[in-house]
Amino acid sequence: MAKIGEFTLHATDGAARTGELQTAHGVVQTPIFMPVGTVGSVKGIAPDDLNNIGAEIILGNTYHLYLRPGDDLVARHGGLQKFNSWNKPILTDSGGFQVFSLSDLRKIKEEGVTFRSHLDGSKHLFTPEKVIQIQRNLNSDIMMVLDECVGFGADKEYTARSLEMTTRWAKRCREEYPRGAGDNLLFAITQGGFFKDLRERSIAQLTSEDFDGFALGGLSVGESKEKMMEILYHSAPLLPKDKPRYLMGVGTPLDIINGINAGIDMFDCVLPTRNARNGTLYTSQGKISIKRKEYAEDDGPLDPNCNCYTCRTFSRAYLRHLFQAKELLSFRLNSIHNLTYFLDTVRGARKAIREGRFAEYKKSYEAIYPNEVV
Ligand code: GUN
Ligand code: ZN
Repeated sequence: MAKIGEFTLHATDGAARTGELQTAHGVVQTPIFMPVGTVGSVKGIAPDDLNNIGAEIILGNTYHLYLRPGDDLVARHGGLQKFNSWNKPILTDSGGFQVFSLSDLRKIKEEGVTFRSHLDGSKHLFTPEKVIQIQRNLNSDIMMVLDECVGFGADKEYTARSLEMTTRWAKRCREEYPRGAGDNLLFAITQGGFFKDLRERSIAQLTSEDFDGFALGGLSVGESKEKMMEILYHSAPLLPKDKPRYLMGVGTPLDIINGINAGIDMFDCVLPTRNARNGTLYTSQGKISIKRKEYAEDDGPLDPNCNCYTCRTFSRAYLRHLFQAKELLSFRLNSIHNLTYFLDTVRGARKAIREGRFAEYKKSYEAIYPNEVV
């Protein structure tokens, strides 16, 4: 077995790469899509569904698990994998982003960020040290440093000051959890908003420190696709080649294809599961809305090119009926399909990279999503 934290590249095709990352709970093939399990559960489905889909790693949120049920409770139950019976790798986001998007009355200082819980209004402080302690209690395979995700529209001066603080916070996280102190990996998060020179500065500062991987944060925060792609294609090549690269909170299937094309290895997004719950399904023919009348009598499978449980077993007509009747099974079946689609997308990308035809593979996604091409 490779050493925990070891990242091995198997093949490259242009900037696109395929490889594997060893974690304490097993190996992750890259490029990978990580289903989001905010409170320790991927909404609507169980670990056996995740295994059948071929999920390799899921994401949990420090912010949510700290507030409820509490990371100390999870620790008493042996860590997140023992608690939720998902026995494979888990990455946890640090809470930085969630505090900024969910909580009230947040205040950022050098020490950390104070905020009020979105659940009961209680007041809390997240420091870089605290989010490490929480993620250690959760026994996350991949812990993320505390960062400030500056929103779209932040000016250059604010963004510059913020990225310097994010770097100091990242160093404090590393000091709280020195290399060798445990089996949990620690990834840094680069920021810098939509200013290329600030992106370069953030990446230079953080990559000179000792982290197991590097993320691009602060993207998909309300900017245009063009802006996101500009920053993605500028920044990804600046990240170390020999460490995993993670594009946080992204994105659509075509965003993921572009990320892989730029040299990104890891992705997470709520899109497949959130859209599953509102009836928007990804297929090899594009996105469809299962609630539409045209599917009422449609006996065909949701996607003839998909081999998931939903597509093998049920008709579009039945899936439409479940959705219209607001049946809970609709959430599960739609989530199984959409996650399979996102995982098939990265599995197909790995194969295409190995076979030296990633450019063609990218073109096939551009053809499926013509209105999204950038
Ligand atoms: N998820 C999506 N974007 C971000 C980000 O910039 N920081 C963190 N911590 N999580 C994210
Ligand atoms: Zn399917």
